[in-house]
Amino acid sequence: MKYIIGNWKSNKSESEILDWFDKFAGLFKQSGIRLGGLEIVICPPLIYLSLVRRLVEDKSLPLAVGAQNISAYPEGAYTGEVTGKMISDYARCVIVGHSERRNYFREDDNELFKKTELAAGGGLSVIYCIPDAKTEVPDDAEIIAYEPVFAIGTGQADTPENADKVGGIVKQKYPGRKFIYGGSVNNQNVSQFLQMSSIDGVLPGKASLDPRIFWEMIANAAKI
Ligand code: PGA
Repeated sequence: MKYIIGNWKSNKSESEILDWFDKFAGLFKQSGIRLGGLEIVICPPLIYLSLVRRLVEDKSLPLAVGAQNISAYPEGAYTGEVTGKMISDYARCVIVGHSERRNYFREDDNELFKKTELAAGGGLSVIYCIPDAKTEVPDDAEIIAYEPVFAIGTGQADTPENADKVGGIVKQKYPGRKFIYGGSVNNQNVSQFLQMSSIDGVLPGKASLDPRIFWEMIANAAKI
């Protein structure tokens, strides 16, 4: 199984999401492509989880829904927070530890380990992002995403060979986990990453925002 997990980050309005799904569903149905061993996930902003899930169902698309963030606290008096229990009504997995969360929101390993524990306890699979092979990963994280900071949003992806090497190290350290790569993955380079033996998937940000580019990534990956 290879994963393509689209992280929309803090992008899109409701009408833009409706438009994305109209276009994506059109491309998907027209092509009649078989996904085979590909698992495709879309991670919209939390406020749109319900909408995205409904659109996936209404259009009968083989997409799973994921969240980009989760509260580090259980249910209770934590104004503004969204718990794993709430998220699991709509999503199957959640991204934890993205470098943008570590950097802009000062989330440290302690907080990220708590988030992971609560997510897993709520039945969500955790996609745990690490900037390098040295970063600690909590026990409950099923998927480890290597996301070198220099490659995120820059158009300068790491080489597939280096990402594969990091994957080998991480898998040795954390046996039984899936390993994916994120950082400027697009429709042009996706196949090179997915062909590497230690790489079980990719986590595109920018390239998932455009339905045609995202579709082309899937179509290229399906040919491997
Ligand atoms: P990018 O983002 O594909 O826009 O570089 C990747 C990520 O941050 O997950």
